[in-house]
Amino acid sequence: MKKLGIFGSTGSIGKNALQVVRNNPDRFKVVCLTANNNVDLLVHQALQFIPETVCISDQAGFRIARQRLRQTGIQVVCGAEALCDLAREADFNMMVGAIVGFAGLLPTLQAIKAGKDIALANKETLVVAGEIVNRLLEEHRVRLIPIDSEHSALFQCLVGEDRSSIRKIILTASGGPFLHKPKEEFNKITVSEALKHPNWKMGSKITIDSATLMNKGLEVIEAHWLFGLSPDKIDVAIHPQSIIHSMVEFVDGSTKAQMGAPDMKVPIQYALSYPERIKNGFNAFNFKKTSRLDFFKPDRTKFKCLSLAYNALEELGTMPAVLNAANEVVVENFLKERIKFVDIPTYIKKTMQKHVVIQNPDLEGILEADQWARSYVRKLLGYN
Ligand SMILES: NC(=O)c1ccc[n+]([C@@H]2O[C@H](COP(=O)([O-])OP(=O)(O)OC[C@H]3O[C@@H](n4cnc5c(N)ncnc54)[C@H](OP(=O)(O)O)[C@@H]3O)[C@@H](O)[C@H]2O)c1
Repeated sequence: MKKLGIFGSTGSIGKNALQVVRNNPDRFKVVCLTANNNVDLLVHQALQFIPETVCISDQAGFRIARQRLRQTGIQVVCGAEALCDLAREADFNMMVGAIVGFAGLLPTLQAIKAGKDIALANKETLVVAGEIVNRLLEEHRVRLIPIDSEHSALFQCLVGEDRSSIRKIILTASGGPFLHKPKEEFNKITVSEALKHPNWKMGSKITIDSATLMNKGLEVIEAHWLFGLSPDKIDVAIHPQSIIHSMVEFVDGSTKAQMGAPDMKVPIQYALSYPERIKNGFNAFNFKKTSRLDFFKPDRTKFKCLSLAYNALEELGTMPAVLNAANEVVVENFLKERIKFVDIPTYIKKTMQKHVVIQNPDLEGILEADQWARSYVRKLLGYN
């Protein structure tokens, strides 16, 4: 029985992870669940899965959860520090890292230091601190399995392969809702249009990142740290059907692709059960019903965030943390309708241009760069 700590259980990945647990009660047990402020769903999940502990960041939510769970024996804790304590001390052997954004970093580092395996959806952790994460994984002999569908695909293509035989990897991207929208109309894009992803149902931050292609940019950086590849060996192809989740081209000219219907439960289940595959009732990709699969180059003049992410990867040091922090702040402001969709890359670029990169930063240096970028971009936006 694998014991799981599901961090970010109330989000899109968290809910899908719990569905995988629900389908396999003899294999997985939930030891802890966490949320930011969605107390109703957290309590509902706790009553269903009876974990040892739940953690919620919000104070008011904490009081409600404690009251509603008082006769269950489930411990309720609150706040960012409690979240890290839980990651380190709770009795689970695999963390599902499903918190969105930079907030996922510190608990993940704690879990690794405590020797717990990681099923990672929270790509921001690798984007901002990939070098530190890799060092800790090695030091504590911890296994990290990616949940992101593209990286799960690459991971699956590489089973049994020597990393030195990779010529390049190709991350596929749906292209988001504005793939065919003319550049001249980008000025009028609304929040509700940007939140309508054609193929995937996800949290709001990653949905906006998918619409700007920043998500693909973050995935390029994630792939660098996961597979040890230089930027020139990481390619991106637009593939609107989202059937091929990514590909590896080998030195002998052969290419492997991993395919499937777009359903995050598949890579989540793979990460939880690796190296085993478990039978399930999920839909497989049906060749007979699909007449074509398309691929083309991303238009970087329309989707400038992709180039910004490549720039950050070329620079490394604290730059990816700055890219990520600026992106988190501008996306939040776009969702609040304070800035336009077209302004997202402009603010990120200005912040990156102002940043003085520190190479090989320690955790302190990353936290400082993150804070600096947030406060700089907020000043630019006029919201301190
Ligand atoms: N969704 C997907 O299909 C998908 C695919 C690949 C990778 N990912 C990655 O997986 C991660 C999660 O994405 P998602 O779409 O599941 O996001 P989401 O639906 O927005 O859920 C985020 C989760 O994190 C919690 N959370 C938010 N801010 C927090 C904070 N400051 N401290 C502690 N917990 C916090 C949320 O709690 P509340 O519910 O209480 O707010 C929720 O449980 C992201 O890094 C994303 O890039 C997602």
